[in-house]
Amino acid sequence: MQATVITLFPDYFRGPFDCGPTRVARADGKLALSFVNPRDFTSDAHRTVDDYPFGGGAGMVMKPEPLAAAIENARQPSSLVVLLSPQGELFSQALAEEFSRSDQLVLVCGRYKGVDERVRSLCDREVSAGDYVLAGGEAAAVIIIEAIARLLPGAVGDEDSVATDSFTAGILDAPYYTRPREFRGREVPEVLVSGDHSSVARWRREQALKTTAQRRPELLRTEVLTESEREFLCRELEKEIIDG
Ligand code: ADE
Repeated sequence: MQATVITLFPDYFRGPFDCGPTRVARADGKLALSFVNPRDFTSDAHRTVDDYPFGGGAGMVMKPEPLAAAIENARQPSSLVVLLSPQGELFSQALAEEFSRSDQLVLVCGRYKGVDERVRSLCDREVSAGDYVLAGGEAAAVIIIEAIARLLPGAVGDEDSVATDSFTAGILDAPYYTRPREFRGREVPEVLVSGDHSSVARWRREQALKTTAQRRPELLRTEVLTESEREFLCRELEKEIIDG
C-alpha cells in the first residue's frame, strides 16, 4: 500500500512510523509512506496556507488553492482520498479493514479551524479519530496508518493475534496474563494453566462476552451467541445484580 499524508507538518511524523508493525510493514515493502506539504503549492512570497474566515469569527481556515493542488498532486487513479476532521465518520476497525484493502490511500490533514468547505468535494471520504477536537488531522493520520499497517499481511508476527483483537471479532477482547503465575497475591486463572485448549478457548470467549456486556453492551446486538453463551451471560448478569 502507498499512503500519502497531506500535511503542513511532515516533521510530526518523525518517529511513530519507525516502531512496531508500521516499521515492519515499511521494511518489508508492504507499506510506502510519503508526505505532501500544501505549503509547497503556494505562489506568494509568504507561502500562505491559511486565511480569515468569511463572516468573521475566531481562528483561521486552510485556504483551498494550496490544499487542492496538494491533493491533485497526490491523487492517483486508484486513490482513496480521506479528509480528516471531527465532522467525519468515526474511525473504526471496519474502516481500518476497508482502507487496508486500498492500494493508494491519501490522508488529508486539516489544521486551524479546518479546511475551506470547497476542498471537501475533492475528497472521497471524511473520517474522524473520535469525538474530540485535535490540533489537526496529524494525530488522526497516525492512528489510521497504524491500525491499517498491522492488518497488512506479515506486519504482526502472529496473524491469529490480529484475528482475535477487540473489534476484529466484533466484541472486546478477553483478559491476558503472563508470568509470574502469582503477582501481588493475585493468581492467574486456573483454566489458563490447565493445558486444556478447548476450555481456554471457551473461557476466553466467555470473558470477552462478559467484558463486552459490561462496557460496550451495544456491540452484542450483532453478535451471534450460542445457547450456553446466553446462559453464561444471564448468570453473570444475575450475579452482578445480586452481589453488586
Ligand atoms: N482534526 C481535529 N480533530 C480531529 C478529529 N477528532 N479527527 C480527525 N481529524 C481531526
